[in-house]
Amino acid sequence: MACGKPRGRWQSARGVLRVSCLLLLCAGVSSEIRYTLQEESKLGTVLGNLAKDLGLDSTALAGRNLRIVTIGTKQELFQVNQREGALFVDRRIDREELCSRSSPCLISIKAVVENPLEMQQVVVEIVDVNDNAPVFIDERYHLEIVEYAVTGARYQLEGAHDPDVGSNALQAYKLSPNPFFRLETDDLGDEGKIPFLVLQKALDRESSARHDLILTAVDGGKPQRTGTLSITVVVSDVNDNPPVCGKQKYTVTVKEDAPEGTFLMRINATDSDEGVNGEVEYTLRNAFRNGASELFELDRGTGDLRIKSGLNFEEKQVYDLKIVAADKGAVSLSTQCNVLVKVEDVNDNKPEIDITSLSGRIPEDAPPGTVVALMGVTDLDSGMNGKVVCSLPKDIPFELKQSSDSSFYSLVTKEHLDKELTPFYDIAITATDLGAPPLSSAEIIHVDVIDINDNSPVFLQSPYIFYIYENNKPGHSIFSLSAVDVDEGENARVSYSIDRLNSDQSVTSFLNINEANGTVVALKSFDFESVKWFQFHVLATDSGSPALSSNVSVKVFILDQNDNAPVILSPVSANGSAEGLEEVPRNVNAGHLVTKVRAYDADIGYNGWLLFSLQEVSDHSLFGLERYTGQIRTLRPFTETDEAQHKLLVLVKDNGNVSLSATATVLIKIVEPKEAFAASDVPNAVKDEEDSDVTFYLTITLGSVSVLFVLSVIVLIVMQCSKSTHYSSKDLQDTNYDGTLCHSIQYRSGDKRYMLVGPRMSIGSTIVPGSNGNTLVVPDRRSRASGERTHQSK
Ligand SMILES: *[C@@H]1O[C@H](CO)[C@@H](O)[C@H](O)[C@H]1NC(C)=O
Ligand SMILES: *[C@@H]1O[C@H](CO)[C@@H](O)[C@H](O)[C@H]1NC(C)=O
Repeated sequence: MACGKPRGRWQSARGVLRVSCLLLLCAGVSSEIRYTLQEESKLGTVLGNLAKDLGLDSTALAGRNLRIVTIGTKQELFQVNQREGALFVDRRIDREELCSRSSPCLISIKAVVENPLEMQQVVVEIVDVNDNAPVFIDERYHLEIVEYAVTGARYQLEGAHDPDVGSNALQAYKLSPNPFFRLETDDLGDEGKIPFLVLQKALDRESSARHDLILTAVDGGKPQRTGTLSITVVVSDVNDNPPVCGKQKYTVTVKEDAPEGTFLMRINATDSDEGVNGEVEYTLRNAFRNGASELFELDRGTGDLRIKSGLNFEEKQVYDLKIVAADKGAVSLSTQCNVLVKVEDVNDNKPEIDITSLSGRIPEDAPPGTVVALMGVTDLDSGMNGKVVCSLPKDIPFELKQSSDSSFYSLVTKEHLDKELTPFYDIAITATDLGAPPLSSAEIIHVDVIDINDNSPVFLQSPYIFYIYENNKPGHSIFSLSAVDVDEGENARVSYSIDRLNSDQSVTSFLNINEANGTVVALKSFDFESVKWFQFHVLATDSGSPALSSNVSVKVFILDQNDNAPVILSPVSANGSAEGLEEVPRNVNAGHLVTKVRAYDADIGYNGWLLFSLQEVSDHSLFGLERYTGQIRTLRPFTETDEAQHKLLVLVKDNGNVSLSATATVLIKIVEPKEAFAASDVPNAVKDEEDSDVTFYLTITLGSVSVLFVLSVIVLIVMQCSKSTHYSSKDLQDTNYDGTLCHSIQYRSGDKRYMLVGPRMSIGSTIVPGSNGNTLVVPDRRSRASGERTHQSK
């Protein structure tokens, strides 16, 4: 294969190698045409005459339409001159770009002609030019070597790179001369060369801590190109000193309430080594086991010890922290620093009151010293912070007693309780410790006071005084009593009864009391004229056990009603009718007292206040009637023409609301003077008031007639008086109540009707509002009997 191998020859002036192809020339058949071209040739550089090399006639070239197609490249690198058929460079050709490191670098082209269509393979070999220098990836390289490194130690360096090929490629490395390192190169053949620094003399950081070397890479091109790398060798320290704690043992004290992040101290360990060997890092050892990692925070770099979360003296008082100070040397050396953290107590726990036994209900009669509650008091703090004092409000009947071993308190009653005063107590017990500031807590103990029947019922009034009208309806309630009992429940349920033992049977027999509500019912109707007042006792008894009772006196005054009509006492005829005859001498003057109509009303006050009026009179000019006294007087002297007999009808009316009345008829006969004189002996004769005490004379007369009769009369008086009343004069004065004890006794002697006035008539004044008249109009014997004179009896 003499012509199978293409051969090219440099033609430096033109940069083109003429191709001689034996095969083409010899065989004239389709064979490879080969050109050789230096990379980076100028554009337009002619590789050769393709037409000629194809054996085409240059004259016929135009008709053949010669063109080329480059295989495997996007753009045509070459072009053919259509006129001459020369193949020339049309673009920049960089071998390293086209073929990288492969060698030889061949580019295939197809040359095509038409008429007839022929195709010829053309190969262009791109010849390398030393256009690239060796290049290190980094310009500088930093190498750290410990000072104890042994001689012969190899340190691989980053190799340089030269994209050129062949002799243009990287050929060798050179190291700047120095006593410590030499260069060794491992040849990996096509893969390139790896340079190594080999230590050939022991390093000493102390004499020279740094060495600057230059590594040069050279290629084999002409001219030779180089690349350099600056190598800095730093001799590093040997980590031969462990860190040293500032103190063998640190002690720090902190209050338990120190807030999160509180700085405790800085652990300062020093390392005399340099660099990382001298840089100390701190860690908490055994952190997991004593829980300190939750509580403390250690700054790795600075060694600052801080509080991470709350401390609690009551849980743990001392923390023994082991802190490892380690340098950052490759082979780290470390020391352990001991830190003792003492936690100080702060008064942060309130005393706690624990009520162990409690009887929340005490009877009010419980003796002083009765235990109400037992309680323990605790405070988790220590020292004074844990000393507790208990107290109670001052104004309650309870006190605290401390047990002899001060382990608990008892709450006891100090004095007798009174449920009616205070039905319950909410006792606030305060426990205060002696810390500064002190803390305290309080518990409220509720104590109910249980009722004991210690209160009697109490009547709302004592004594009770009632005023009721006479003529009440029997069986109806007349008044109510009420008593209250401040106790509770059954102890306060009151029932009422009349104390029949201590009251007058005659009174209580006609009274009933409602046991439940104290309403009193009268079983009979009262008559003021017979009973004016009465008194009895009522008992109020509660239902407690034993029951308590109380006692009230009830005074009942009967009030008068106008139920009695006036009774005419004089004149009274023999048959009992109110008629009388009076004889008057004809010669009397005007104003002569003819007679006096006397009347009596059993009622009192207005009901018994009597007024007189003339209802009928035969001659109005002759006689007048005094309104209040009932005296009939002549109004003028009689004349001859006056009739001898006159009739007067006198109306007597009381002043009750519905007034009652009676009438009396007085016949007046005018007589001649001597006739009248004779008539003056008659008991009925009218005399001046001062001399007309009929009763007095009557009594005297009666007394003289029969001692026995007088005695019987006295007996009668006494009986009458005691029957109608049984109270003392003091009662009357007390009540300011008008009551005549024994008004009068009427009796008959023969055909005359007389009236006897009782012994007490003079006692007690007759009160008639707005009047100066007496309600009781009786024959007045008082001026003689007692020496008194009543104003109304003129
Ligand atoms: C007391 O009870 C009686 C009978 O139940 C009744 O008629 C009366 O009205 C009561 N009185 C009062 C003051 O409640
Ligand atoms: C009620 O009071 C009277 C007078 O004080 C007394 O005599 C009587 O014994 C008392 N009755 C009772 C039941 O206590």
